[in-house]
Amino acid sequence: MRVLVTGGAGYIGVVLCRQLIEAGHEPVVYDRLFWGRKPLAGLDVEIVSGDLRAFDVATLDGIDAVCHLSGLSNDPTAEYNTEANWQMNAVATERLVVACKARGIERFTFASSASIYDSEGTTHDGSRSPAMCDETTVVAPRGAYSLSKKYAEDVILRETNDRFAPVIFRQGTVFGYSPRMRFDLVVNTFIKDAIVRRRLFLHGGGWMWRPLVDVEDVAAVHVLALSSPLEKLRGQIFNVLEENYQVRQLAMLVAGSLSLVDPPIRVELEGAPQPTLVRNYRMSNAKLSAALGFTPSRTVLESIEHMLTKVPLDRTDDFGDPKYYNIRWMSLLEESHVEQRAYASIY
Ligand SMILES: NC(=O)c1ccc[n+]([C@@H]2O[C@H](COP(=O)([O-])OP(=O)(O)OC[C@H]3O[C@@H](n4cnc5c(N)ncnc54)[C@H](O)[C@@H]3O)[C@@H](O)[C@H]2O)c1
Repeated sequence: MRVLVTGGAGYIGVVLCRQLIEAGHEPVVYDRLFWGRKPLAGLDVEIVSGDLRAFDVATLDGIDAVCHLSGLSNDPTAEYNTEANWQMNAVATERLVVACKARGIERFTFASSASIYDSEGTTHDGSRSPAMCDETTVVAPRGAYSLSKKYAEDVILRETNDRFAPVIFRQGTVFGYSPRMRFDLVVNTFIKDAIVRRRLFLHGGGWMWRPLVDVEDVAAVHVLALSSPLEKLRGQIFNVLEENYQVRQLAMLVAGSLSLVDPPIRVELEGAPQPTLVRNYRMSNAKLSAALGFTPSRTVLESIEHMLTKVPLDRTDDFGDPKYYNIRWMSLLEESHVEQRAYASIY
């Protein structure tokens, strides 16, 4: 299949493109290339550079399926410019969905987020675990990012019919190695802090729960959807996770793993939890397993071991590169754009 991958040059997208090629598909990356095209080096992919807000429907010519991953991909970047987030994640997604349906592109996978389950009033002190959410749980998302994902989900469900069979994946927080690495995701951040600072910091005791999933497994779910019976996908929502963990557990796993290589690593408690957007939720992966037969291939512990073979343990300066942190990179781009836009070139 010729598969359009929006956001195909991102953290998950690059891994997805590699897996698509391995499965015999032809990925076409549609991406604004915030992080450049270098992470796709070595992959036989066509790259269309573009912003989804100005999507040209002719890009869909010859496309058999779409995996839609593009957009602002965490709370800080969405809160930084809520209007851009709304236009990219909600409005542009709606136009893409409508265009795909009109073109008769029946297979459409959407990278939604488990943060949709997070709601006001969950405890953060370890005294009570949040309820287990499944795909039938009524959601009340908060924050610009989750609200835009919910809008996109509702659009997809609204447009579903007997000729359009989109599927929504509510992805847990992702961990693991990608050629377009992110160190602003909890497990990856702990690995970076353990290597660079020899210390991990737990806000509010680290009692908050998160569903977690390896980047290879998230990508594999999108690939699986390209060959699954349409009737199992049409208008369905699936949670995608390996397991739910408390942030404190993740710190112990990283500290323990690193200690085997180069001890010691200190785990330290840090102040009270931040007042807003301290996310705390658990979710079930039973539906994905029952309906599509998907079993995650990697635990957090296994992924940590894998990452330690991939990241430069001896070149700690590399971890400071702002490209590894979405909000740092986006605010630098914005700053440079504001100051330099009068000139045709930086030089
Ligand atoms: N990484 C996670 O933990 C996680 C968890 C749940 C859901 N998700 C979702 O999965 C998707 C991929 O996440 P990721 O971690 O790979 O993020 P990422 O930030 O690494 O990648 C996003 C990609 O989208 C591109 N992009 C952004 N805005 C665009 C626009 N307007 N037009 C065209 N391209 C644009 C960027 O250039 C980038 O390559 C996102 O939709 C994200 O919300 C991610």
